[in-house]
Amino acid sequence: MRVRAETGLSIKKKTSILCAFSIEDTNVAIGLGKFNKKIDQTISQSLQEIKGKKGKIAIIHSHKEISSERILIAGLGKKNKLTSDVIRDVTGNITKKIHELGIKEFTIITPEKISIKNDQVVSAIVEGANLSLYDFDLYKKEKSNKKEPDLTLLTSDKNAQKIIKNSITISDAVKFTRDVANLPPNECPPAKLGEIAKQIANQNKMKCTVFSKNEIKSKRLGGVTAVGQGSKNEPRFIILEYRNGKKEQKPILLVGKAVTFDTGGISLKPGEKMDEMKFDKCGGCTVLGVMKAISELKLPINVIAIVPSVENMPSGDAFRPGDIVKLFNGKTAEILNTDAEGRLILADGLAYGIKHFQPSSVMDFATLTGACIVALGTNVAGIVSNNAKLASKVKSSSAKTSEEVWELPINDDYMDMVKSKVADIRNLGMGRAAGTITAAAFLANAVGNVPWVHFDIAGTAWIQPSTKSKSYNSHGATGFGVRLVVDYLMNQK
Ligand code: BES
Ligand code: MN
Ligand code: ZN
Repeated sequence: MRVRAETGLSIKKKTSILCAFSIEDTNVAIGLGKFNKKIDQTISQSLQEIKGKKGKIAIIHSHKEISSERILIAGLGKKNKLTSDVIRDVTGNITKKIHELGIKEFTIITPEKISIKNDQVVSAIVEGANLSLYDFDLYKKEKSNKKEPDLTLLTSDKNAQKIIKNSITISDAVKFTRDVANLPPNECPPAKLGEIAKQIANQNKMKCTVFSKNEIKSKRLGGVTAVGQGSKNEPRFIILEYRNGKKEQKPILLVGKAVTFDTGGISLKPGEKMDEMKFDKCGGCTVLGVMKAISELKLPINVIAIVPSVENMPSGDAFRPGDIVKLFNGKTAEILNTDAEGRLILADGLAYGIKHFQPSSVMDFATLTGACIVALGTNVAGIVSNNAKLASKVKSSSAKTSEEVWELPINDDYMDMVKSKVADIRNLGMGRAAGTITAAAFLANAVGNVPWVHFDIAGTAWIQPSTKSKSYNSHGATGFGVRLVVDYLMNQK
């Protein structure tokens, strides 16, 4: 979407539709100003009609009385509930309305001097507008109307143009993540993810290495090998290197689970909703989206991404319950359920990344456990960390981007729950108890003392029946985590 900033008065603005926000029960359209008696009266009537309630929109035709052809007023809801996400959501609704009406260009009056910082308001408007028209229709003959309207933001903020540019880059990366995550499993085996990674690396001057099945085996990535061996679609181990910080600066490591389809393997899943396991690559897609964004933003940092990718299939070659496999970190893992496959490939990704790149900190992203949905639902991701300082920075980026997280605890008692009688560790906890944490405890074995935050995005990576509806999300993958992590990385030097 094309978005630009403009200073100047709304009264003079020549536009198809001039949009302003209104907070509940204030009877004020923020920043709209005065026109002439007739128009001002109509505006005032509309304000009283919608009362600034969230979700309500009024449109007034100006009949050439003023420079703008129409005025739109959108309610933001109660003042004490106003967050940047409300602005993101309401802007998405405005954009959808304008798209529906076939209007080719619109202007939004940026609400200034409200309780939210200007840069966050501008980002929220741009993201809401740019994400709201996303629709995955690659496989449909009848495409949705892809022509996006142009947006002008009226603002007095001198930095607005820069913030707009960054927000477009970031929300385009979210769309990219959704596009890849939405690919069906027959069209997106691990090799395809390797090609996609190479593409973004070439476009943005990153180094990309993709290990084949044989290389994965010879490098002793035993977890990836075991999970991948049951499928004809061979595994890949993807490494992206973005270096734009000081040479001596240790990199940040991002690891993402990319199971292109998770049948459960020999511990086969029930049929119901198994199709959704095409989204089991979402962690990896988030990491790819983050790399695309930060390389386009040219952030002055060093970041390594690792995306272990497999298809988890039952077959005569598949790994089995009872198998003992040797992970990259040298620890042996007893397989008790082949459906607990994510932790096996992630443990290899984490250990390989830590050994070869000596990162200052690590984050991993995975649709790891159904238990996370039981615990937190589908609007909040679980996080588990060994470092309170890093976790608190993640929480502050989460608050800014409204990609919600909730921290679950980890300690030695949970670590004990993944010890095995016949191997060093086991890929299952104790029954259903604390399933999200025991999965993280398995990963903690591969992480050691490096500051680490694990994100379980099983509930948030795609839209499920219990997902709260937001104008800037549509059916399918959400791209959860991209905005949060890019915000975190923008605050690193
Ligand atoms: N990919 C699934 C987790 C999942 C399930 C995410 C449903 C989103 C929706 C993961 O590989 C898995 O199957 N986990 C098992 C672990 C269990 C066997 C310990 C689960 O959650 O049931
Ligand atoms: Mn599984
Ligand atoms: Zn899985």
